[in-house]
Amino acid sequence: MQAPVLRFSEFTRARAPADDRDRLLQAAKRLAVLAEAFQLTEKEFEKKAQHLAAELTLVIPTFNESANLRELIRRVDAALAGVAWEMIVVDDNSPDGTSALAKGIAQADPRVRCLRRVNRRGLAGACIEGMLASSAPVVAVMDADLQHDERILPQMLEKVRAGADLVVGSRHVEGGSAEGGFSARRAAISDLATRMAKKALRADFSDLMSGFFMLRREIVEDCAPDLVPSGFKILADIVASAKQPLKIKEVGYMFRERIAGESKFDIKVGLDFLGLLLNKVSGGRIPVRFIFFALVGLSGVVIHLMTVNAALAVPGVSFMLAQSIAVLVAMTTNFYINNAITYRDAKLKGFWPQLRGLLYFYVVCGFGAVANVGVAAWLYNIDHVVWISALAGVVMGSVWNFTLSSLFVWRKD
Ligand code: GDD
Ligand code: MN
Repeated sequence: MQAPVLRFSEFTRARAPADDRDRLLQAAKRLAVLAEAFQLTEKEFEKKAQHLAAELTLVIPTFNESANLRELIRRVDAALAGVAWEMIVVDDNSPDGTSALAKGIAQADPRVRCLRRVNRRGLAGACIEGMLASSAPVVAVMDADLQHDERILPQMLEKVRAGADLVVGSRHVEGGSAEGGFSARRAAISDLATRMAKKALRADFSDLMSGFFMLRREIVEDCAPDLVPSGFKILADIVASAKQPLKIKEVGYMFRERIAGESKFDIKVGLDFLGLLLNKVSGGRIPVRFIFFALVGLSGVVIHLMTVNAALAVPGVSFMLAQSIAVLVAMTTNFYINNAITYRDAKLKGFWPQLRGLLYFYVVCGFGAVANVGVAAWLYNIDHVVWISALAGVVMGSVWNFTLSSLFVWRKD
């Protein structure tokens, strides 16, 4: 028998770092096994294998995961022996150099690719773009931090091959557990989010919050334009947006503890999720960004009232003055909260850009106020119902504020 080596791997092996060399040698051995299984000579199989496209694309979103990537690939490779897989690492320009590392690995291992995104952040968006970059019939999403158990990948693939549309790596079915991986607080939040999402999306499988799943690529391709790229909850979004009811299966696993690097879960991620639910409940008609904008506006009302009260407590301050101060304070806090949350992907940074943005925002709010009063007065003339007219004014004012803010204050140029 000849040495079981892929021509391509021979070529790359010469350039590969030592630990990759071992992996390639293993790959070559597997090739020999496969060739035998297909009753071909290795030469024949090698020829065929070169044209063998991947059956499974693993999409790995990363942000600062350079300490985990090599180990991840090693484990995936071991778990998926005999499967034609490829990996797309979608990195949001991590400062720790994850994308350079991924591309280095890719030079020695053609199954690995890296999609480096710049000036963008977002787990869901990264997953969507990774899945859309695949041409394999099956795609899977998995975290890079080794918290997801790669050993259930073959089982998941089996279920897809057997006809499932979507297979979820679940912490809540038999054999699954979230203990260890999450703090008690985080586990409680995750539980609450799951329950809310199940209600809102009318989905009835157990781990809707999972970031570990596999599905037929066709399903994502069909609903991709409806998916919301901000936030963490891509699975819930796919289930809610799918064009036909999905055949969903689950495979349990133990959610492991993160050893290296840090979790990116924070309060903003939670807010994003709330926005996603509202967007889905409204049938996708209300943009997530507007929901945030309106919520921030509501917080502005509270701040306004508090400021008026505080100002009136100062002796000699008239109501007019207190009201004016409150308007300024509320607009200013609204601006900064919107800058931090609603428009964080187009965040204004630095003193001058922020000052300019703030002044623009004042002007925009002025227009919003005019629109508000105009519509309210016009309607009141017709229907003479105070609350309807006032509410219509508020809605009109918010829509105006939102539209103009998106166009002029936080425009991306
Ligand atoms: N490209 C990109 N952009 N990747 C990101 C970003 C981002 O903005 N934020 C996080 N990631 C990557 C991380 O590098 C990691 O590989 C993966 O997404 C998950 O991020 P973590 O920060 O480790 O999330 P977690 O452990 O708190 O939560 C994860 O597991 C849960 C349980 O399955 C997520 O997958 C949750 O969605 C999931 O519910
Ligand atoms: Mn994690």
